[in-house]
Amino acid sequence: MLSAQSLLQILADGKYHSGTDLGVRFGVSRAAIGKTIHKIEQNYGLSLFAVRGKGYRLQQALELLDENVIRQKLMEQTSEQLNQFEIFFDIDSTNRYLNNKSIEGASSGYLVLAEQQTKGIGRRGREWMSPFGSNLYLSLLWRFPYGAAQLGCLSLFIAVAIVRALQKAGVKDAGVKWPNDIYWKNKKLAGILLEMRGELSGPSAVVIGIGLNINMPASSIEANNIDQPWIDLQTILGQKVERNEFTAFVIDALFDVLNNIPDEQNKLLKVWQQMDILKEQNVDVIFADKKISGKALGINRDGALIVHHDGKDIVCHSGDVSIRPGLNDD
Ligand code: BTN
Repeated sequence: MLSAQSLLQILADGKYHSGTDLGVRFGVSRAAIGKTIHKIEQNYGLSLFAVRGKGYRLQQALELLDENVIRQKLMEQTSEQLNQFEIFFDIDSTNRYLNNKSIEGASSGYLVLAEQQTKGIGRRGREWMSPFGSNLYLSLLWRFPYGAAQLGCLSLFIAVAIVRALQKAGVKDAGVKWPNDIYWKNKKLAGILLEMRGELSGPSAVVIGIGLNINMPASSIEANNIDQPWIDLQTILGQKVERNEFTAFVIDALFDVLNNIPDEQNKLLKVWQQMDILKEQNVDVIFADKKISGKALGINRDGALIVHHDGKDIVCHSGDVSIRPGLNDD
């Protein structure tokens, strides 16, 4: 049946497809194909060439996410634990969707990916820009027998998992920025959003949301709306990244870390500390009601950031941190 999705699956190869051939394939008129092409441009922000005598082609070929390909590339143990797996072409937010599923009682190990999010949720009320077919938008539901009180370091552990996946893809110098960002040379590469439900003492359900720039179209409206320096994986590696394969790396690394909490907690904290980009830097920390400036000293055992300010070591459990420009160059 003709739909924007089914047509896009054919056009994803980046080659020309004639309107007549496409019409025959879907059993519809050329006009119907033309209308659906228009829909693809409108809904997914993709650019298409239409050339008389040749047909339609995408400006750039796309590697669409494919459950079978991802599953084939997963480690056996991950695949067995992956309870449910859904890939959306288009969704408001994978986290919002999975939060609803979690309330309905969905089981641990439920994974959702999307090609595009129309209202991706970022931290601190920001929108996570999520253009079509280019990045990683992933949410995973995980249930813990214990509560939020014992999960203070979870976002740090998830960051370690992402860096491990990046290393497997060939990225050498990714860093972590407290509490849950992945950076490369002072540019943001990925963000983590954890949404927890349950009693403080447990059990709890966490929706782990990850947004990672794989191949952000630099001229897109979304890219222009990002209000901080950013980078994508393809630019770092200087070559095309296979999205399905890289997605499998991330899923494997996530399951590995999640299966090893709490046993490997101390080890994971040490790994995180080695990649801490704020350590010894002069920083500003913005809280809901105030701002402090001082030297970041690293994290404590609870995953809180310690900032030396006004002669005291301040323990920050939340806050928006930025490196103070100019003050750290020696
Ligand atoms: C941040 O602000 O740094 C966190 C961004 C988290 C974005 C991801 S994309 C997949 C998941 N779904 C959402 O709506 N948000 C998270």
